[in-house]
Amino acid sequence: MRLKDKIALVTGGSQGIGLAIAVRFAAEGAKVAVAGLDKEALEETAAYITDKGGQAIAIEADIRYRADVDRMVDEALREWGRIDILVNNAGVNRTASFLEITEEDWDWHLDINLKGTFLVSQRVAKEMVKLGSGGSIIQMSSVNGLAAEADQAHYNAAKGGINLLAMSMAVELASYDIRVNSLCPGFIETRLTKPLIENPPAIAEYLKTIPMKRVGQPEEIASAALFMASDESRYMTGHCMVIDGGQLIKLS
Ligand SMILES: NC(=O)c1ccc[n+]([C@@H]2O[C@H](COP(=O)([O-])OP(=O)(O)OC[C@H]3O[C@@H](n4cnc5c(N)ncnc54)[C@H](O)[C@@H]3O)[C@@H](O)[C@H]2O)c1
Repeated sequence: MRLKDKIALVTGGSQGIGLAIAVRFAAEGAKVAVAGLDKEALEETAAYITDKGGQAIAIEADIRYRADVDRMVDEALREWGRIDILVNNAGVNRTASFLEITEEDWDWHLDINLKGTFLVSQRVAKEMVKLGSGGSIIQMSSVNGLAAEADQAHYNAAKGGINLLAMSMAVELASYDIRVNSLCPGFIETRLTKPLIENPPAIAEYLKTIPMKRVGQPEEIASAALFMASDESRYMTGHCMVIDGGQLIKLS
């Protein structure tokens, strides 16, 4: 077991990539707090993990709000006393052309994807520093944080910000034995990407941009998250790991 007795907090842990990470971490021995917006789905995830012999709790919280973030972290600490691994996975994406992005669109993307990541990171990092226990923080970015996709300026900007946030944190927190890395998935099969996957002509066209000619699976991101969370990556910090079937390296 690669995460035996570690305590992990996974935001957006009730579905998609976050769910796969929570399940994988629990299978590797971690006690996992799954947090997010959907109480029922979070409780189902925690029950699923517990049924499989793992340990998990569900915490309803909206990461846009400091009060929610504090309550979420306090609940995890009350349960297990510390947090060793944080996965800032919660995120949203709604396409709009640059000329049509509304102020609300912009705020929604930046508040959840970037500000939420900052709020949770800062609170958890403070606890890690206070306890002197070190830790691993994983920020869920995207290939959109490294290259621009049309109709995603708000999402691209937020994910690019996450990569620099991760590097900034890595620089400042290294002396506390806290590592901070980001994951940059390509196109992964989840609720977020369902509309495109369920449109045969559109997905056939899209797959031409991916050298491996298939969409990725949440479990393939969970494997990378496991590496980042475990001691196997103990000399790695400030790194952005791309998992995209080769999409980003292709010129045309
Ligand atoms: N699916 C992809 O192709 C892909 C690619 C690159 C990056 N990502 C990133 O991976 C992460 C997970 O994506 P997914 O595809 O599993 O999406 P998803 O929509 O299936 O899951 C997103 C999760 O975030 C939670 N969430 C949303 N707003 C929240 C808020 N304000 N507070 C707390 N939780 C909130 C949702 O409840 C949900 O559990 C996101 O950050 C996304 O940007 C996804």
